[in-house]
Amino acid sequence: MTATAIFGGLHSARALLLAQVTGDHNSLHPAGPQASNIEWLYWVIFWICFVVFVLVVVGFARASARTHTPAQEMLPIIQDPEGDRRATWIVGSAVAFTVLTLFVVLFISVITGKRVEGLTSKNPITIQITGHQWWWEAQYPNPQADQTITTANEIHIPVGKPVVILANSADVIHSFWAPNVHGKRDLLPGYSSAFWIQIDKPGTYSGRCAEFCGLQHAHMGFSIIAEDENTFQQWEAQQLKPAADPNGPDAARGKQVFLTHACIMCHTIRGTDAGSKMGPDLTHLASRKMIAAESLPNTPGALAAWIIDPQRIKPGNKMAPNPLAPDDLQSLITYLQTLQ
Ligand code: CUA
Repeated sequence: MTATAIFGGLHSARALLLAQVTGDHNSLHPAGPQASNIEWLYWVIFWICFVVFVLVVVGFARASARTHTPAQEMLPIIQDPEGDRRATWIVGSAVAFTVLTLFVVLFISVITGKRVEGLTSKNPITIQITGHQWWWEAQYPNPQADQTITTANEIHIPVGKPVVILANSADVIHSFWAPNVHGKRDLLPGYSSAFWIQIDKPGTYSGRCAEFCGLQHAHMGFSIIAEDENTFQQWEAQQLKPAADPNGPDAARGKQVFLTHACIMCHTIRGTDAGSKMGPDLTHLASRKMIAAESLPNTPGALAAWIIDPQRIKPGNKMAPNPLAPDDLQSLITYLQTLQ
């Protein structure tokens, strides 16, 4: 695989990526109860602001229509106690109305906050999300270590069920934001926080990091895939399996390339000797639609470009370039594509 072919593949991969982006990333298209409550609050505040805006514009238009004084004409000083009283009354009422409106907005914000936090369930699914520069680690903890799923950037949940997200960061402050699902939630290093999400409509919902976290903040995407209970359980069962054995000589060679080059220093593939937690867990890499935190589609060309020179795609990220021999790279890609 030549460099031209790889980067040519990368360009078509980017085009494919644009076509693949799903979910409209829109807080006005809520997919669950939290986002619905936030949308409701948005529209209440929007209409309050709209009415105030119209009142201000009407008042301004009336005032400017009234004061037609010819230029250079001296204004006589008019004593108008009745007019003064009326003006005082109008300004006083406007101030009272403003304060009252602000209190109403504060009150409904608190109510919405309570409703958003109000989701509970006796036996929820728990997902530990850890923000990294610049990708998302998703772990489905289980008291039995071999029953714990670890994946990256693609979070599967069953539809219609409350899910607890335990949020944490491995380095700097990130913010977990899938607007169709929930508001922004900060991920703080050394401090765990928890919040609930629920998605009632099956689909793929896009998310972004919403807190500036360094050079590749803009390339820190994720998606939440809400699927019916059966599909979710199938996904779970598949993810729990160790990596599949290579299905042919080329894949077997690729596995050796993985285990004898820098890959093993940072990544885990369960069922092999690779167990480092620096980078994303690759045990089921081929089951994911995207790579590099939603920066590239998971295609052979994009994968090759990413492995050869990740710094060209996401400058500053922690993965070093891997100048592999063309045959080695080809075998490695073949192997990685078997990791369903
Ligand atoms: Cu992570 Cu911005």
